[in-house]
Amino acid sequence: MADEWKECMDHCLEVTKEAGKMIRAALQKDIAIMQKSSPVDLVTETDQKVEQLIISSIKEKYPTHSFIGEESVAAGAPSILTDNPTWIIDPIDGTTNFVHRFPFVSVSIGFAVKKEIEFGIVYSCIEDKMYTARKGNGAFCDGVPIKVSGQEDITKSLVLTEMGFKKDPEHFKTMMANIKTILSIPVHGIRSPGSAAVNMCLVACGAADAYYHMGIHCWDMAAGAAIIREAGGVITDISGGPFDLMSRRLIIASSRTIAEHIASKMTVFPCGRDDLED
Ligand code: IPD
Repeated sequence: MADEWKECMDHCLEVTKEAGKMIRAALQKDIAIMQKSSPVDLVTETDQKVEQLIISSIKEKYPTHSFIGEESVAAGAPSILTDNPTWIIDPIDGTTNFVHRFPFVSVSIGFAVKKEIEFGIVYSCIEDKMYTARKGNGAFCDGVPIKVSGQEDITKSLVLTEMGFKKDPEHFKTMMANIKTILSIPVHGIRSPGSAAVNMCLVACGAADAYYHMGIHCWDMAAGAAIIREAGGVITDISGGPFDLMSRRLIIASSRTIAEHIASKMTVFPCGRDDLED
């Protein structure tokens, strides 16, 4: 049977490459930094320009499709996932890395139909690594199949999470306490590469065994969710329950045992939903 969404995925791949080129070119120039919700929530002109490039290119080809893009939402667009084919876009995932030229900066595009993610593409554009996954067809890095480590023993695992001081000191305290709890299991180590989408790909290709995060967004997770599932990994809510793309939290892991272990150790703080106003 012909793949109904193949043409969309092919187009996504092309536009993602273009976006990556634009980001690499911007790294050669001065980067003007602006603040969004807090002094550590950054945005640049490049984030906005890359998102415009992606959305205008896709809109021209698929005018009836819907979009949820990080910078459009920041500018007031709705962030509601409907049954309509929807492109979920983070033009630069790892903006802080981008402004520091720290080399994990990605373009992340997930495509959902009837709220199911059909494919995901993450382009780690400084490393020049293209991660792709189509539902039911496996996950790839630069065309080569990837899979999770399969590690079941958390004491032998490398765990990823992100640290950021947003607005709430209580959240910050809980986040640091969670890191201490995970390190004390013990695990081999914790790393924070600084791009949620890259983190998901690192677990998908077996370079790390788990990643957990509270407070991210659907555009950070949509593409990576397709990639981790197709690489044989597990994706759950931070509580261990079913993953919800709009819930702003997740655990991904190389095995269910590790995902459940992390869920059992987490102190959860409320982080809102992408589809509700704060
Ligand atoms: C950020 C990155 C980072 C995570 C932040 C995200 P952005 O995305 O994924 O790893 O810690 O929570 O907001 O803002 O650079 O697209």
